[in-house]
Amino acid sequence: MSEKTGGPATAPEPFTLVIFGASGDLTRRKLVPAVYNLFREGLLPDDFAVVGFARREKSDEGFRAELAEGVKAFARGRTFDDATWAAFAPKVHYVQSGYDDADGYRRLRERLTTAGGIASRLFYLAVPPNVIATIVGQLHDAGLAEPFDDAHGPDGRPWARIIIEKPFGRDPETARELNTRLGTAFDEGQVFRIDHYLGKETVQNLLVLRFANSIFEPIWNQEHVDHVQIAVTERIGVEGRGTYYEQAGALRDIVQNHVMHLLSLVAMEPPGSLDADAVRDEKVKVLESLRAIPEECIANGVVRAQYDGYREEDGVGPDSCTETFVAFKAFVDNWRWAGVPFYIRTGKRLPARVTEVSVHFKPVPQVLFNTPELGPMLPNVLAIRIQPNEGISLRFQVKVPGPGVTIQPFQMDFGYGTAFGQEPPDAYERLLLDAALGDATLFARCDEVEAAWRFVAPVVACCEACTRYALPTYPAGSWGPAEADELIEADGRRWEILRRPKQK
Ligand code: BG6
Repeated sequence: MSEKTGGPATAPEPFTLVIFGASGDLTRRKLVPAVYNLFREGLLPDDFAVVGFARREKSDEGFRAELAEGVKAFARGRTFDDATWAAFAPKVHYVQSGYDDADGYRRLRERLTTAGGIASRLFYLAVPPNVIATIVGQLHDAGLAEPFDDAHGPDGRPWARIIIEKPFGRDPETARELNTRLGTAFDEGQVFRIDHYLGKETVQNLLVLRFANSIFEPIWNQEHVDHVQIAVTERIGVEGRGTYYEQAGALRDIVQNHVMHLLSLVAMEPPGSLDADAVRDEKVKVLESLRAIPEECIANGVVRAQYDGYREEDGVGPDSCTETFVAFKAFVDNWRWAGVPFYIRTGKRLPARVTEVSVHFKPVPQVLFNTPELGPMLPNVLAIRIQPNEGISLRFQVKVPGPGVTIQPFQMDFGYGTAFGQEPPDAYERLLLDAALGDATLFARCDEVEAAWRFVAPVVACCEACTRYALPTYPAGSWGPAEADELIEADGRRWEILRRPKQK
């Protein structure tokens, strides 16, 4: 097999990862297990450290013990071992401070300048959106956003970068304000807006599938594609995050970010290069070509619903109007996609965890095999399974062996697990490494986030006035409300997730 490789093979320069919100779930479940795996695989420099920064009182030792439990439970591949942890743990430190306490940032600065001369900094803001501006201001005032004068990276100037977790703002205005606030302390090149979906191997493979093969691109347009479906369905509910989710709902939690990235990667034009800005320029063009959903459609064409029992979740009010399910139809008004509907649906407490993008091709003309005598014929579908059972499936028609002509749909499957014999790397591993290397391709640019909000915000705003529009409920474990089926069936189509093949 001939392989083509690219991307980062080298370890980043020495740096310290500073995690704000270090006592939170994300640090224990995702960030530190990802860093630990990178360390274990030799992908981090020797001069590397983690500093947790949070309000809760705890010692370095206490922090390390908590993280060890997190790594044992959540590291991809269950990779915890005592020897590796013993080498990793001394690199981990904790600074207790309020986010608005200048003294805490002074102590942080001391940690950064004394820890073996390490001076490049990767700040990770795993904090609620309302404290981001405070932290950015304090980092600026403490001189931590700027390279230090007294330290020495390879080019003489150590770097400072900042990763911001989603949700990035609540609407276009707050996203713009946040971008402006960040701009007072950091250059755009230092800012990494993270969406963990972009770190998923299968999401990255969308570009390879489309642009490293010659058979798909010629048919990837309105002439051949009937419609596209994007499904992000989850079996879980809000899992103790009711207070956060009440402020978000499915539109802000999943659609504004994860779905918009999937949609723009599926619909974008080929970029001129793999340079971060070339890729992001094309994504932004798609977002800017999304047809605004008019208010009357919001009333009739956007289906929102809530799972039964959501109002009893912790942190959720008894009269909550927050949607846990949303389905709608979008159009990308450009030459490639004119008239092709993109059907989106996402929800919690559905029967299965499935993220899938499927391209449904036009039916064959009603001649030869597509006749009433031979029965209805299912159109070709190319399904990109983002998770689980990561892979790609193609449905096509075959003749059933035997006399006469009986036609049957058949599904050809490619599975990452089966083909490569390993679990795909965790999204956070990839994204943390890219940020440490300064590669922003898989991070959202300021205009990208604002463009996504411009499309989603009117829908959110209109839905928030939910007394005007009914909010149906659906039983937990069902595929959502009947209205979602009616939405697509009114166009003579149906929701479809291709059969999931078993992987070895
Ligand atoms: C997060 C959302 O961004 O993505 C969660 O806040 C959601 O509500 C999660 O459950 C889904 O991520 P994944 O990787 O499990 O598909």
